[in-house]
Amino acid sequence: MDDCFSVRDELMAAVETATSVDELERIRIGALGKKGRITALMKDLGRMEPEARRETGAALNALKDEIATALDARKAALADAELDARLAAERIDVTLPPRPESVGSIHPISQTIDEIVAIFGEMGFMVAEGPDIEDDWHNFTALNIPREHPSRQEMDTFYLPGESDGLRKVLRTHTSPVQIRTMVRTPPPLRIIAPGRTYRCDSDATHSPMFHQVEGLVVDESTHMGHLKGCLIEFCRAFFAIDDLPVRFRPSYFPFTEPSAEVDIGCTRKDGQLRIGHGDDWLEILGSGMVNPKVLANCGIDPKRYQGFAFGMGIERIAMLKYGIPDLRTFFESDLRWLRHYGFRALAVPSLVGGLTP
Ligand code: PHE
Repeated sequence: MDDCFSVRDELMAAVETATSVDELERIRIGALGKKGRITALMKDLGRMEPEARRETGAALNALKDEIATALDARKAALADAELDARLAAERIDVTLPPRPESVGSIHPISQTIDEIVAIFGEMGFMVAEGPDIEDDWHNFTALNIPREHPSRQEMDTFYLPGESDGLRKVLRTHTSPVQIRTMVRTPPPLRIIAPGRTYRCDSDATHSPMFHQVEGLVVDESTHMGHLKGCLIEFCRAFFAIDDLPVRFRPSYFPFTEPSAEVDIGCTRKDGQLRIGHGDDWLEILGSGMVNPKVLANCGIDPKRYQGFAFGMGIERIAMLKYGIPDLRTFFESDLRWLRHYGFRALAVPSLVGGLTP
């Protein structure tokens, strides 16, 4: 029995002071394992007198339970302490600055398209779309540009390989085929704008083989030249945010409009600097005209009943003018420094005036 008590005190002290789960396991094996001290005492029971055996046996069983319970309790305490220590060490410091994130920006072409759509949207225009790869009929023939017409050559068309000449598909040279697609599909009245990519085999500081245009088309029974003028004057003034911007209509020629007019806005050119607004000079920004009756007829619209007007303009060109971008090719170089400089803040509501990111 003495042994039993001294073993108990020793083991309990060891359990209390153990500092790791590994150490507790060693204590358990040393006490209760096959060669453990309590196991050895149990083995001695066999040699004892029955009365002493009963007494010592009961004491040893109680000791086994006590040690096992103490081991479990200490193990749980050590696990808690370990967790507390980790929680203390791994505490999140909410005062640290956040990791820097790179914010993207809106490309000036997208911004300019949004602005144009917003202005014409206010006037009740809807956005229409068409494919970049067009057939000869939509890009030329239906627009009153027959095969031998000189403006086919002037357009520096990209032809796709395949079918024979005249049937070959083209990369659309302007957004005007969207007029045709809209008129063929939808009966008048019509009021659409169609921004999109266009292609011509040309490349220098003011031309890129891929560029953007926006097309406008209005068809109704009473549409006249006054509507064309009012609509485009309103657009130019809203887009450049100059209320009294001078706008001039100059007679011109397009096969798909009759009469046709090019639209110029007032500007000054001084010391190589171009300024939009009042001045003694003019700058051409778009082409327009009354839809040629032949084009209406080609699309199954009765030209005796309906008339319309159309216009088309280069998006890069007006973006360059509004935001002072000197070289058209830079729009498509994807130079991050350029995008950071000329790009627009994302998630900002598109405004008619816009503004450069700081
Ligand atoms: N499609 C013409 C061009 O690309 C522009 C235009 C469109 C002119 C509509 C008049 C009417 O130059």
